[in-house]
Amino acid sequence: MTVARWAQNFWRSSDSDSNNQRFFPNPACQRRYLFDDALPVNIDALIGDYIRQYNQHKLSFPPVSAGTSLPPPDAGQSYLLYLHIPYCVILCPFCSFHRVQFEPGEAGNYFDCLRREIDLVTEAGFRFDELYVGGGTPTVAPDELAKTITLVREQHTIGGVSVETNPDDLARDSMAALRYAGVNRLSVGVQSFDNDLLREMQRLDKYGSGEEIRTRLQHAEGHFDTLNVDMIFNMPHQTEASLQRDLNILTDDVGVDQVSFYPLMTVNSTRKKMQQSMGSVDYDREKAFYGLIANHMLACGYVRTSAWCFSRKPGLFDEYIVEREEYLGLGSGSFSYLGGKLYSSTFSINHYLRLVQAGKTGTFGCLDMTDRDQMRYYLLMQLFSGSLDKAAAEERFDGRFQRTLWPELTMLQTIGAVRNAGVQLTLTERGYYIWVMLMRNFFTGVNNLRDQMRHNIARETAILEAE
Ligand SMILES: C[S@@+](CC[C@H](N)C(=O)[O-])C[C@H]1O[C@@H](n2cnc3c(N)ncnc32)[C@H](O)[C@@H]1O
Ligand code: SF4
Repeated sequence: MTVARWAQNFWRSSDSDSNNQRFFPNPACQRRYLFDDALPVNIDALIGDYIRQYNQHKLSFPPVSAGTSLPPPDAGQSYLLYLHIPYCVILCPFCSFHRVQFEPGEAGNYFDCLRREIDLVTEAGFRFDELYVGGGTPTVAPDELAKTITLVREQHTIGGVSVETNPDDLARDSMAALRYAGVNRLSVGVQSFDNDLLREMQRLDKYGSGEEIRTRLQHAEGHFDTLNVDMIFNMPHQTEASLQRDLNILTDDVGVDQVSFYPLMTVNSTRKKMQQSMGSVDYDREKAFYGLIANHMLACGYVRTSAWCFSRKPGLFDEYIVEREEYLGLGSGSFSYLGGKLYSSTFSINHYLRLVQAGKTGTFGCLDMTDRDQMRYYLLMQLFSGSLDKAAAEERFDGRFQRTLWPELTMLQTIGAVRNAGVQLTLTERGYYIWVMLMRNFFTGVNNLRDQMRHNIARETAILEAE
């Protein structure tokens, strides 16, 4: 089959209705969004492989060196502030984020240092208008969390505060305290309502059964402007029937404002534990699961605010790296993207405490991105939300955006992922799934950076000892 014929297939597949009946048992929600699997090769997998290799090559920190520090702020610019709280009461086998076992004494010192770090960057002139607290589990020490949010809100005019949590922290008084501290978006890690899958993820005992989580979510509704639920799809033993039950609970029983469906991601450091506990991931099933999710959520009246996030109404706050090109991250294991450079703080809690107590930020690694990589990053993030404003892109990159990225843009249009829609580039239905793969590979690249920073700890120790 010729390339031209393949390209025709891709375009056609955006409008195909061939798999309609397969995914959509819930009669209340009519299937409208479709995928065509009848291609001679799995071109999506080929694209995924290409991106994975590209990320492995590009997303790699040089060895950490002494004297790495954050740049000064751009005068007049307001940033999003990300705070990382690495503590969790249990460590889930699939999770590749920077997280350590919760220990109250150490966590108290950590929050003290985090507040000192906030003071440091505020004194350096940074201004913030939005706050995102992620983890780990930020709500493990609720009083410390509230004190830290309050500090940021006293120093800056903050429009929105988003906090990640787990289902066991959804008690009525905890939610009232978070609301009082200014939190207006709460993101709850559910992953699935299927008790067998929760058991395999080792979350059942600590975070409760699917039925318990559902009841807690029902009670949480209405406390925040946005209640988001994090789910994972394509778990090794997940079936389409199990995922469909999850979808029905989300839309029919709970009716949350927003659902983020992450494709299960693996990384070297977690692969073995995850395989032992949950089994091996089969990426060939991912597209069908995504089709099931998109069809159900869209038919039930949700809008897609990013390729894997579905909201009851447009304009709800979602992934911060999509909404804001630049952001500053504080706390051990956080990243910042400023002035075309990606900075990482140390992944050693001890080093972090030591650096901040010595009056420095926890910054220890820096990756300088080329102009072209900055444009590709911009393209990836903008189209993750479904569309890219061409004029804004040209303004951001001094009129060089389309001229520089023409090979990427031509390729994306040829394979039917992106459509040229006047002033915008928009994702096609096929493009949405391709973007799920791209973002999964991008986040896998970021997870590998996390592994790299963990390996850097020995070198950091040598640097700190020499100081
Ligand atoms: C890092 S957790 C932090 C919030 C909270 N501790 C929790 O468990 O939800 C945020 C979300 O990342 C997602 N996540 C973590 N590891 C993942 C993986 N390996 N693949 C896909 N999603 C993952 C989960 O949906 C999780 O809820
Ligand atoms: S998924 Fe959440 S609770 Fe589990 S280890 Fe990761 S950050 Fe902690």
